[in-house]
Amino acid sequence: MKKIKFGIAGLGRLGKVHAQNIASKIENAELTAACSIVANELDFARDKLGVKNVYSDYKEMLSKADIDAVAIITTSSEHCWQIAAALDAGKHVFSDKPLGTTIDECRLAEEAVLRHPDLIFFLGFMRRFDPSYTYAMDQIKAGKIGKPYMVKATGIDPEALVQSAIKFSPTSGGIFIDMAIHDIDLMRWFLGSDPIEVYAGGSTFKHPEFKKSNDDETGIAMYKCANGSMGFIHVGRTASYGYHVETEVIGTEGTLRISPVPEKNLCFIYDQYGVRQECVGSFPERFAEAYLLEMENFVNCIQKNKKPDVNVYDGTKSTQIAFATAESYKKNSLISIKY
Ligand SMILES: NC(=O)c1ccc[n+]([C@@H]2O[C@H](COP(=O)([O-])OP(=O)(O)OC[C@H]3O[C@@H](n4cnc5c(N)ncnc54)[C@H](O)[C@@H]3O)[C@@H](O)[C@H]2O)c1
Repeated sequence: MKKIKFGIAGLGRLGKVHAQNIASKIENAELTAACSIVANELDFARDKLGVKNVYSDYKEMLSKADIDAVAIITTSSEHCWQIAAALDAGKHVFSDKPLGTTIDECRLAEEAVLRHPDLIFFLGFMRRFDPSYTYAMDQIKAGKIGKPYMVKATGIDPEALVQSAIKFSPTSGGIFIDMAIHDIDLMRWFLGSDPIEVYAGGSTFKHPEFKKSNDDETGIAMYKCANGSMGFIHVGRTASYGYHVETEVIGTEGTLRISPVPEKNLCFIYDQYGVRQECVGSFPERFAEAYLLEMENFVNCIQKNKKPDVNVYDGTKSTQIAFATAESYKKNSLISIKY
């Protein structure tokens, strides 16, 4: 089968992970072009990955590079115009989450996807491709827990990274826009229904710096969905033990828990502190397999001309829900979510 030629835009923290996967771990893909506004990221693509065609201008990559598809892993506010430009240039598009940083941006991407029904657009909600989450969804579809009626999700970043969260806080849109989008997507996916109401709050006990940008180090949000099901999302930035991502889906006949102990691996350490397991340290470590599987799925969709299960409207809806959550947090009141 013909290999899909990729151009990647953005080679920062996550872009490097995707670039390495495309360049050397996906059988039917090759990385032939790369674009970044940071010179040393282009050096990385050229020197470490052997990418010959590198560009500092995104539109130039689209017009000059020999590519079938573009992977967009740039700063979130760049995603939507870059999605539209790539589709208009006849390229298939993978964009990492979030779809956009405003609803207007998301609509721009929706229109571009509608203009090009023959091209594949794939949104990188990679948790859906993590083997444990996929397995949980299969159990739900097989009726193993009856009717799912509640999702409880926890996402706490490592305390070790808190200084960068403090620095990013004033421009991040706040803890819910910054952190909750994956949990919001999973809640919709598992419950098969969209939230219509949200009530959110936050607190800070350790790092008062967050308060200076009207943000918090911990946030909670409660959702009521159109079909009566419920969600509870807890996000935070101060896990002293590592990276804590955990999801629970409760149904009429049983419960699924994904990663209730965010263990690094199956090794137990017996030492002066007791008998213990280490915690997974970061998102690239916890979701390494998911990043690879989602990109393989994108390549497969292109080759088989199959529409991906996660679409542009999932991107808009999760963004709308995140904004409604942030509004509830700011106003300290129950918010109706309009779509
Ligand atoms: N799916 C996940 O789990 C996950 C995890 C982390 C980040 N992300 C998302 O991935 C994206 C990148 O995040 P990151 O942490 O790697 O950020 P980063 O700041 O480390 O990297 C961003 C990159 O975008 C490039 N860039 C910005 N504007 C550009 C432009 N106009 N043209 C070309 N390149 C441009 C920068 O050069 C940089 O390489 C964000 O949208 C973020 O929300 C997703």
